[in-house]
Formats: sequence, C-alpha cells, structure tokens
Amino acid sequence: MSRIASIYICQSCGAQTRQFFGRCPNCGDWNSIIEQSKSSLHSKRKERGNDSLEKPTVKLSEPIASLEEKVVNRLTSGYDEFDRVLGGGLVPGSIVLVGGDPGIGKSTLLLQSATAIALKHSVLYVSAEESAQQVRLRWQRLKGSESNLQLLAETKVDLVLQELETLKPAVAVIDSIQALHDPNLSGAPGSIGQVRECAAALQQLAKQQNISLLLVGHVTKDGMLAGPKVLEHLVDVVLTFEGDRYASHRLLRSMKNRYGATHELGIFEMQGNGLVEVKNPSEIFLNRKAASGIATIVACEGNRSLAVDVQALISATSYTSPKRTATGVETNRLHQILAVLEKQMGLALSRHDCYLALAGGLAVEEPAADLGIAAAVVSSYRDLILPEGTILIGEIGLGGQLRPVGQIQARLQEAERLGFQRAVLPKGSGVYQLKKKVNLDIMEASSINEALIMALGSDPGRDESKEPI
Ligand code: TYD
Ligand code: MG
Repeated sequence: MSRIASIYICQSCGAQTRQFFGRCPNCGDWNSIIEQSKSSLHSKRKERGNDSLEKPTVKLSEPIASLEEKVVNRLTSGYDEFDRVLGGGLVPGSIVLVGGDPGIGKSTLLLQSATAIALKHSVLYVSAEESAQQVRLRWQRLKGSESNLQLLAETKVDLVLQELETLKPAVAVIDSIQALHDPNLSGAPGSIGQVRECAAALQQLAKQQNISLLLVGHVTKDGMLAGPKVLEHLVDVVLTFEGDRYASHRLLRSMKNRYGATHELGIFEMQGNGLVEVKNPSEIFLNRKAASGIATIVACEGNRSLAVDVQALISATSYTSPKRTATGVETNRLHQILAVLEKQMGLALSRHDCYLALAGGLAVEEPAADLGIAAAVVSSYRDLILPEGTILIGEIGLGGQLRPVGQIQARLQEAERLGFQRAVLPKGSGVYQLKKKVNLDIMEASSINEALIMALGSDPGRDESKEPI
C-alpha cells in the first residue's frame, strides 16, 4: 500500500485532514487549508527525536516523595514589573511566549530585558524580523549598556538551533517565532505547520540545554495569539503585552504560568528611550479631582490592587435608540447596570446616551466594578458630585441588590495607602474585621439605592415623568 505523502493543515485552527477541503471541517474557515508534505514532517521529527529513543534497561519512574527537591534559581529580567508577571523571575529552561499587537513594544521590552540579563548571563537575541543594523540602532536608542548580548539576524530555524548549540546561552530571545522558518517544510513562514515545527525544535533544544527561551508571538486580527493553541500548549508561560497605542502605558499580563500565578499585571510606560516601569500605577489611573460623572473603584489584577477612575457621560439622546459605548468595561455589563438603574431607581436612562470609560486605558472585567460604574452613571445623570476620597466596590445583582466581592482587604489597603477616607461596600463584606485592619470610614449597603444615598449624601431620586416599567 502506498503511504500518504501529504496531509492538509488548517491555518486557522490547526486541524489535520487527509484530503483537501475548501472549508475547514473543524472551524469552518474558508481557504485556510494548505497541503503539507508528510514525509518531510516525519523525517524531521525522527531526526530530532533519535537520541531520546534509547531502549530503557532500568525502571524509569520513581516515587514522587523520594525526588530530590531542586532549588530553582530564577534569573531576574532586570525589571521588577516583568519579574512579577513571570512569578518572580525567569526559570532556567522555561519557555515564555510574549504576544501582542504589532508596534506595541514587544521587541523593545525584550531587547531591554535581554541587555539587562546579559550583564550577568550570556544571552542570544535572534532577530528574524529586523536586520542586525536595525536592532543595533534600537539598542543605541534604548541606551543599551555594554553587556554580554549576542545578536543574530536570521530566519532559518536550523541556523538558529546551531547557534544555540554553539553558544549555549542562559537565555535566548526569538523575535518572532512567526518569522522563523524551516526550508525543508512546505508552507510560508508564520503558517501553522512552520510555527509548530520551529517552536517544537526550539523547545526540545531549550529543555535539553536548560536555555530559557523568550518567544515573541504575533496576535491575529481577532486578538488571538497566532498559531492558535499550538504554541500555548507548548510553552510554559504565556504573556500578553497590551495597551492603547495612542497612550503611553503598556500592560504586561500573564495568561498561563506553570511557575506562578496567572492574571498578574506589570505596568510600563513607553518613553522616548524605551520602556520605563511604573511603580505606583494607581496614580496614572486616578484623576484626583472630583467632578460629576466620576467614581473611583479598586480593581484587582492578580495579586495587585489598582485604584481606577470610572468616567461616565450621560446626555439626552437625539437618536431613535440611545447610544452606549464602553471603553475598558464590557458593553453588556454596562447595558445590564443601566437596566437595573432604570428599573430599580426609576431613572429614564433609555432616553439618554451613555459613554463610559476607564482612565488610563485599563480594562476591568470583574463585577466588583459594578457599583462604581453605577455611581458614575447616576452622578453624571443627576449632575451630582461624589465626595472626594470615596471608593465604591461591589457587584450589582439584577434585582439591584449588592453582593460582596473577593480580595476586599487588599483593595481597602490600597485605597488607604492612596489617601482615600471612605469606602462603600456591600453588606456581608466582613466590615467588623476590616475596620480593625484598615483606617477607613466603611459604609455597608445592601442595595444599589442605599449605596448611592450613602456615597452622594443625598437621594438621587426617581424621575417623576417616568411611567413605571
Ligand atoms: P516595537 O518594540 O518595535 O513593537 P513590536 O515589536 O511589538 O512590534 O515598538 C514599536 C513602537 O515603540 C514604535 O512605534 C516606536 C515606539 N518606541 C518608543 O516610543 N520609544 C522607544 O524607545 C522605542 C525603541 C520605540
Ligand atoms: Mg517587533
């Protein structure tokens, strides 16, 4: 019987089929399937895996309790913010994928970090996208200090592997994994097959030689890391670098971390000569000037609490259906809060446009922001100013009731540190205990109505003209 010479791989989802389809039977994408020669894939894998195929003569497994505990000496990336997101530094032999939109600053971050690591360890920076001269210019712009940083501008994975074997660096940066390619495989650089094979080859070598790999990955149109899931399974840590391209703040988050907590957040600012750490991030997300339509919340990102201003603008609509836009908050969440305010507090919000934004380009997904959002909306609608120094934390249920949220003590401690004096919390947050630990005037409310009366110091009232819904 003849062997199948080709397989067909979907470039969107990575599904493999034995025949060509115009539309991927797995993900439904059109024209995403390309042919790949199976023999080349096969022979490559075989070649790389040969040394690990020696016949075992003794028992290979051992009892878990008898394993010797190994002390992991993490390497510092040179930046506390980066280290925090990694879970305390770079673990030798680990593979870290850094994803993000083009132009957000991935190359800058990694070149800066590589330069800093190279002060103590050997580091190889592989630039597959820019020429050596371009990287050198950037390095100069970043005021890169003299360090043991080796640069290789190369796109062929075999040469990169060869150089890694020769140099045996402690850390290697690959910028980017999509730009590398293996000429023995069909498919353009960046295609699923290429990305998978290149990453697998690098991973094998990195684990063998205990090299920490930092891979740059591109993000596709819909915000996924390109080579969906293929890379995420392979690597130990997945970080995303994000931020508003028109603002200078950049957020580094961990999405997956085999060596630390996920959803950790590191904050940087892009300046004329590179990225600078932001040590006191709450300051950039706060306005500090009371005005109508502004409320302050304390959001939690991983182990970190951040005070953030929520800004709302409510104005009478001139459209048939009112306009609602939300930046940094999910639009559906805003719709839900507006509906609760309309129903429970009798406000005629359906005749008003609503624009909502979080300061500083931060995105908050957790429901703990609900009460702050509601307060900002009511404050703008009624043109009432929330007193300075007040924070609002709580989830709003569909019936207008408030629900307690997690990590409340950490949030209040951050508020206290920043000089806030009052906090409005949902009933059941354990205020008795909290009052012993933080020096804030804490008020408890069981419903949204009650919370707003406490925060504003007056009843925002119902709309008389509004018929009951
Ligand atoms: P870059 O690291 O090339 O982004 P990526 O690798 O994610 O595509 O960063 C590009 C942007 O950063 C570019 O628009 C210019 C800006 N930048 C600065 O503002 N200051 C700097 O010192 C550097 C090096 C870049
Ligand atoms: Mg780049």
